[in-house]
Amino acid sequence: VVTVHVPLTERRDDSYDILIGRGLVDDLGTLLAERCRAAAYAVIADSHVASVYGERVVAAAQRTGSAVHLLTFPAGEWNKTRETWGALSDRLLDLPLGRDAAVVALGGGVSGDLAGFTAATYLRGLPWVQVPTTLLAMIDASIGGKTGVDTRHGKNLLGAFHQPRLVVADLDTLSTLSAPHIAAGMAEALKHGVIADAEYFDGLVRSHGAIRARDGATLEGAVSRSVEIKAAIVAADARERGPRAALNFGHTIGHALEAVSAYALLHGEAVAIGMAYEGRLAERQGIAAPGTAQRITAALARFGLPLDLPEGVSVEALIDTMRVDKKSRGGEIRLALPARVGAMAGDETHGWTAAVSVAALREVLAGPAGRQP
Ligand SMILES: NC(=O)c1ccc[n+]([C@@H]2O[C@H](COP(=O)([O-])OP(=O)(O)OC[C@H]3O[C@@H](n4cnc5c(N)ncnc54)[C@H](O)[C@@H]3O)[C@@H](O)[C@H]2O)c1
Ligand SMILES: [Zn+2]
Repeated sequence: VVTVHVPLTERRDDSYDILIGRGLVDDLGTLLAERCRAAAYAVIADSHVASVYGERVVAAAQRTGSAVHLLTFPAGEWNKTRETWGALSDRLLDLPLGRDAAVVALGGGVSGDLAGFTAATYLRGLPWVQVPTTLLAMIDASIGGKTGVDTRHGKNLLGAFHQPRLVVADLDTLSTLSAPHIAAGMAEALKHGVIADAEYFDGLVRSHGAIRARDGATLEGAVSRSVEIKAAIVAADARERGPRAALNFGHTIGHALEAVSAYALLHGEAVAIGMAYEGRLAERQGIAAPGTAQRITAALARFGLPLDLPEGVSVEALIDTMRVDKKSRGGEIRLALPARVGAMAGDETHGWTAAVSVAALREVLAGPAGRQP
């Protein structure tokens, strides 16, 4: 088992561990008892994950001797809403669970964001543990304490920072995940490479075959390195006041695309398209070294990720959506852009994001992002 510690410097009590290994789901009883003891546990999972792993997780949690309740909601990004959050909260009130209870978020990023937001707000906050079961959630979504729901105005616009007590990533759960969801997780892994580690980036490209084949050691290596990179960034900036903006590479366009396409794309697919266009934009603005965009698109293509805007997506609708994004300030569109593969352009003196004119954005979005190899 690999353990990565997230040492939150602003609020030391919020520090927690991420455990990465195989068969960890069956150890949940001991882990919960040691790291998040509670009088009762609410395991929150989407309908699909609940049918595959719900029983095992409930049985493991029952070994704490506490009462365990399984709460489910319909799977799908379009259910990451206030309505679902409200329904889950009402069910906790109906039980009722008190302040001595804890939440276990079981599933992908949608479960994590919804269950985490429920935990953050229920009786002004319950402790919670994340059990991510998608590659994307293990690599990215389960680290950093961001929770929330989407609205018709855009993604994740209502939410809270609420750090989990523990994250338990059981790599064995990836065996039941679909191939497109493995690829979607790799978009975030490649993003971490672009942000912080060119060698990791190149290593991922080289091992694309092993990753697609779900080779255990290769997946463990990727999840561990990505978690380290993300943990180091969020540890220094838990509430996104500065350097954490780097993690938004690919997400300004990606989030807008998700919203505009009514969630027809997976989050990781939208981020891949976002990285392809934002890479080009960074080069066009003279921010990124020549060749950066090509290197990024070639890597994404290796994993079969999409690079171009889907047919029928309106560039103007995308730009309108980006204007209400949390990262945009005062009407101009700000993006976290790379200087090259392995380093972001932002810094303390020049700001962590770059302002880009709508005209430049429009021009880049009007063309193809990827020269498909
Ligand atoms: N909080 C954060 O910091 C953060 C970071 C990145 C992404 N996110 C959010 O994460 C969400 C995307 O996460 P996701 O891609 O994991 O989506 P998801 O949670 O919808 O999971 C994808 C699908 O896979 C299924 N599934 C999950 N685990 C499975 C398994 N082991 N076997 C078989 N099927 C399984 C789910 O039922 C679902 O249908 C987005 O809402 C995004 O905004 C949050
Ligand atoms: Zn993401």
